[in-house]
Amino acid sequence: MILNTPPMGWNSWNTFGNNISDSLIRETARVMKDRGYLEAGYRYIVIDDTWSLKERDAEGRLQPDPEKFPHGMKALADYVHDLGFLFGMYSCAGVQTCAGYPSSYDHEFTDAETFASWGVDYLKYDFCYFPANADNLNRYATMSMALKASGRDILLAACNWGSGEPWKWMKSIGVHMYRSTGDIFDNFKSFSDIARSQLPNFCMSGANCFNDIDMLTVGMYGKGNVGLGQVCTDAEYETQFALWCLLGAPLMIGGDVRNLNEFSEKLLLNPGLLALNQDAEGRVPQTVYRGRVVHSGPDVEGGWKEYPDTGLTLFKHLSDHEFAVGYFNFAPQSGEVPFIFADAGLPGTSGLAFHFTDAITGEDLGVKRDYFHQMLPAHGCRVLKCRIVKA
Ligand code: GLA
Repeated sequence: MILNTPPMGWNSWNTFGNNISDSLIRETARVMKDRGYLEAGYRYIVIDDTWSLKERDAEGRLQPDPEKFPHGMKALADYVHDLGFLFGMYSCAGVQTCAGYPSSYDHEFTDAETFASWGVDYLKYDFCYFPANADNLNRYATMSMALKASGRDILLAACNWGSGEPWKWMKSIGVHMYRSTGDIFDNFKSFSDIARSQLPNFCMSGANCFNDIDMLTVGMYGKGNVGLGQVCTDAEYETQFALWCLLGAPLMIGGDVRNLNEFSEKLLLNPGLLALNQDAEGRVPQTVYRGRVVHSGPDVEGGWKEYPDTGLTLFKHLSDHEFAVGYFNFAPQSGEVPFIFADAGLPGTSGLAFHFTDAITGEDLGVKRDYFHQMLPAHGCRVLKCRIVKA
């Protein structure tokens, strides 16, 4: 299977946890088709943990819970396929799934065959209850082989939470994306820490094997299965989505697409940000600034204050001689995040400048020489595109 750009889709876990059903998946697929998510590139509809019965059948096969999925998985996959989506399911490399359901350790070949027979196109493969004496790499390699042996093209989304530095070996065993961190929660600290923790590893992410920093929480506002009582601001969600897009991470929506507010839906469908994530050259960004943000404002004693290591500027080479610049303010107050062109390789002595547009709104921002800094709100971001022009 050739996968040039990061996979995009929806996953049931963040909002619904074990509260999943045939009708939820059908409604979600219909809404995603009607509201333009499929057209925007969100192709995979993935059912996470808790879909099965607690026991295998007499032949040792996994079986869907008939209360949640009364028509079985093949019928549901057919429905999802008929709308134009691909169909994803979940299992685990250990002896039980994280929620305590049967799992694929020592059943890899049977389970891969079962998934293939249902028409599954994507398998999320978790790491709970992994035996202490078992070999992490070898067990993911075994499921990779089992999927290949099934004869069906099935994307393998490994989810071992970064155990054993998966960025170094997942690509070599045929995995298409790998979770590199623990679970995301719907608050700024959780998702900004997750993204920042992977900055050094994204150089190993790219076509056919992407670093997966977990499902998005955009639009959840504290509701659902991964909220901890905090409610994110719109600026925080914009920062989350911009980070995932610039880093070239898989974009799996975790919110309830049937009920997202207008801001969140527009953000997830923003063509400018999606184009950065799906850019044909598939490069990862370079960090051109990581350090202090200069703050000012009446709420700060003395008028000025600095917070250490709270600003980040990412610069990404795109196809067609274009570039993206992402400015991020991780501090809890507004402040300025810099971009000095020489740091991206364009010194003033070159006699060249950048012509900027806002990647999110499309607004033309004109030609700038030498530097272009941005004042950002607390936890906010700005994403620009630029081209080289004569100064
Ligand atoms: C783990 C995974 C999550 C989710 C749950 C399901 O915690 O990391 O993404 O799949 O299991 O139980």
